[in-house]
Formats: sequence, C-alpha cells, structure tokens
Amino acid sequence: MRFGVLTGGGDCPGLNPAIRAVVLRASRAGHETIGFLDGWKGVRDGRSRPLDPGELADAVLKGGTLLGTSRTNPFQKPEDAQKVDQTLKGLGVEALVAIGGDDTLTAARELHRRWPKVVGVPKTMDNDVGATDWTFGFDSAASVSMDALGRLRDTGGSHHRVMVLEVMGRDAGWVAWATGLAGGADATLLPEEPYDEAALVGRVKRAVARRGSALVVVSEGVDLGARAGSTGKADEFQHELLKERRVGEEVARRIEAATGAETRSASIGHIQRGGAPTLFDRILATRLGAAAVDLALAGTFGQVAVLKGEKVVGVPFDEALARPKTVPKDWIELLHSLEP
Ligand code: F6P
Repeated sequence: MRFGVLTGGGDCPGLNPAIRAVVLRASRAGHETIGFLDGWKGVRDGRSRPLDPGELADAVLKGGTLLGTSRTNPFQKPEDAQKVDQTLKGLGVEALVAIGGDDTLTAARELHRRWPKVVGVPKTMDNDVGATDWTFGFDSAASVSMDALGRLRDTGGSHHRVMVLEVMGRDAGWVAWATGLAGGADATLLPEEPYDEAALVGRVKRAVARRGSALVVVSEGVDLGARAGSTGKADEFQHELLKERRVGEEVARRIEAATGAETRSASIGHIQRGGAPTLFDRILATRLGAAAVDLALAGTFGQVAVLKGEKVVGVPFDEALARPKTVPKDWIELLHSLEP
C-alpha cells in the first residue's frame, strides 16, 4: 500500500513526531509513505517526496514540519479539486493521512466524499478541534507563553508596571486560559466572554494595590467592541488575521487611561508556534499518527484519530468537525476565582 501524508494550516510543535509515527507505523506493516509538500498545495500541484524511515530518527525532537505547510484550500476552485484527484491517481496513493486543524480536516472530509481513502489527525496550538480532548501543539505553545508571562512578571515587578501579554488563539481562549492560570495572571481576557472593562480595571487596581504591579493576559480573539482594530485581511479559509488587530496594545492603553498605572504590552505571536514539542505533545502526536495508519490499514477511512480520556479512537469527520471546542464555563470560573 502507498500512504500519503500532509500537514496543513498553521504549524505547531508535534507535527514532526506525527509524521514520523505515520511513516514508521506504515513501514513496520510493510507499506511505503510519500509526503506532500506544503499541505494541500502539494497535493494540488503534485509536489511530494518519498519519506524514508531512516531520515526520521530525530523528527520526534523537532518543531515545525519537515513537509512544510500552507493555508491552501484545494476545493476553492473546481479546477484545483480536479488537480487533487489527478495527483492522487497519478502517484498511486491508496491512503491519505491529513494532519491539521479544522480547515485542513474540512478539506480532508471534502476529499473523502469524492475519494474515500482519507483519514485525519487533529493538531492545533489553539486546542479547538471539537472531538478530541486535547490537540498536540497546545501544550508546547501554552508552555512558551506561560514562560513569557513569567519574564514579564520580573520586569513588570521591577518597574512597578502593569504588563499585558497578547497570545494566540483564534476563536477559543485555551492558550490565554492556560497561560493566565498556570502563570498566575491577575486578569485574563478570553474570546469566550464579553469584554468587561470594569471587571478588568478592578482586578488590575487590586493587584497594583497589593504588590505594585499587575499581569494581564489577552487572547488575540477577544472582541473589544465592533471588532476593534480589524484590518479586514483574511486567509484562504476566510479567517481574519487577528494578530493585526493588536488587541493587547489597545487593552494596555485602556488600562493606563483607567488606572493611571504605567502599562506596557507585548505580543508573543509566532514565537509560541516554534521550538521543540513538549513531552505531552510528542506522545500525543505519536499516538495519533500511529492510530491514523491503523485506521487506514483496517479500512476504516473517513475517520479522525482523536484522544478520548486515555484512549485514542477513530471518529467520523462529521463528528470531529461538528463544533469547535471552547473553554468550558467552570474552567473559566476557576480562572477568575483565583484573580484578585
Ligand atoms: O494555527 C492557529 C493560529 O495559530 C491562530 O491562533 C492564529 O490566529 C493564526 O494561527 C495565525 O496564522 P498565521 O500563521 O497564518 O498568521
């Protein structure tokens, strides 16, 4: 059997361990794997390369994706969809493992409807794919932003300032939630909640009164009112480029105006997406990559390998994509209950 594998959407730590697991698992069962370059773009344009198990020895350690990625939507134009069909037929691919977030998996579902040989692996630092308990990439990214918050604590404390950290997370505030909780922020703004300036200012004032400084985490997806700062720029899946809105800077301005405390902001941006995957992400990515191959070998196509409790199971694309996973209410309550 000839496997194909691709990584699509924003990169995140864990992609290389997942690719490695796909190739080694397939190879162990006597099958070869080719890698498509730059996500769906490589399938559309017929750009691929063989993946040799021997070259993947240290892939488990590495961030990014050795196959490259893109935010290409191969089903935007009918002629592109035809090119996808031609590539897969031409290369004799018999099973395709698509590793990605909701956009990549939505395209995988579309392909599966026309060519029922597709399985999926969820990834995203945003942790917002509905059917899986966790996505790999999240633990690594949130660990980096937690570390960044610790650094801002040092400098903010020294200067008696309020420090605002903007983190990624498109529609779900998982990264901000984890950074705020694990980094001991005084206030955390999530896209799951309406913006409440009075509550924010109250928390900042209480923190400043206690120790002379304060730490605030802002998710890039927070709506400060009428999509403040929106530039209208979007990717091929029509997602707005949220970083351009600079909500962290705006929140810092508002805090300084309301409290009189000297305030600075920092945006960690793509720094969160790079670096070696954490232990958790290496293990999760490896388990999901291997499970996707097992699904294909069992002929169970049209499924996504997901984590449910301690088990990795296959669920149909429709179930995996039914709804994005946002931070639950009680987890948000826990976060705010620890703030001043
Ligand atoms: O992959 C998800 C994500 O990291 C979002 O949190 C963020 O809004 C987006 O990617 C940034 O995308 P890009 O790398 O294309 O600027």
